[in-house]
Amino acid sequence: MQIHRYANAQQAGQAAAILIGAQLLRKPDSVLGLATGSSPVPTYQQLIRMFRGGVLNFSAAIAFNLDEYCHLPEDHPCSYHHFMREKFFRYVNFAAGHTHIPNGNAEDLTAECARYDQKIIKAGGIDLQLLGIGRNGHIGFNEPSDQFVYGCHVVKLTQSTIQANRRFFDREEDVPREAVSLGVGSIMNAKSVLLIATGSDKAEAVRKAILEDIDPCTQASILRTHPNVIFLLDEAAASQL
Ligand code: GLP
Repeated sequence: MQIHRYANAQQAGQAAAILIGAQLLRKPDSVLGLATGSSPVPTYQQLIRMFRGGVLNFSAAIAFNLDEYCHLPEDHPCSYHHFMREKFFRYVNFAAGHTHIPNGNAEDLTAECARYDQKIIKAGGIDLQLLGIGRNGHIGFNEPSDQFVYGCHVVKLTQSTIQANRRFFDREEDVPREAVSLGVGSIMNAKSVLLIATGSDKAEAVRKAILEDIDPCTQASILRTHPNVIFLLDEAAASQL
C-alpha cells in the first residue's frame, strides 16, 4: 500500500491522471475501471488535456464503470451514463462499444449483474481501477455491511449515501434508492487500484480504511490487502492519519 499526500484535490487528481496515462502508454489496450463522483473530475480533466496534447490515445483501451443508479433514465442529468459522457468520454477517443456502464434499467437486474461481470472477465480483467470513497467508506456502491460482496450486485443505498448524493438532485425523494455496483471481489481482482480521496468530509472514512480493522462496515478497508493499491489524498482527507 502506498499513500501519497497532496496540498489540494487538483494535485491528487493530476497524480492519478499521470498513473493512468503511464498505464495506457505501457499497455494501450488497457482495461480501465472508472469511477464517478466529484473526486475523479480533476483526473478526467487532466486526461482530456493529455489527450488533446497528443500525449495519450484511448482508441485501444476499454473502460468499465463501477456503478449506476437503478431506474434512472440513462439521459437523466444525474445518471452515471450522463456523467461519464459529459465529464470524460465525449472528449477523448475510446472506440465505439469500448465503454461500459451497468444498465440500471435492465428488466432483469440480476442477469445484468452477471452479464457485466462476465464482460469484464472476457475483456481480460481490469488492469487499473480508479476509485473514490464514500463518506461512509463505500467503494463503488458497496455500502457498509456485515460482509464483502464478491460480484456485481444490486445495492440498497444507505441514508448517508442518499444524503451525500442529494446535492445533485432537485429533491431528496428524487435520489434513487438502489444501484447496480461492481462487487468488492471484482474491484480487488484489478491488477492495480488508485483511490482518490479529497476534502475533510472524507477524513474519517480514510482513517478507518487505512488505520482501523479490515471490516465490511468500512468497505474500503479491504483495499489494504491489495498487492498494488495507491491512496492519493489531499491534506484535508489525510488529516486524521
Ligand atoms: C458515489 C459513487 C462512488 C463515489 C462516491 C463519492 O456514491 N458511487 O463511486 O466514490 O459517490 O463521491 P464524491 O467523489 O462525489 O465524494
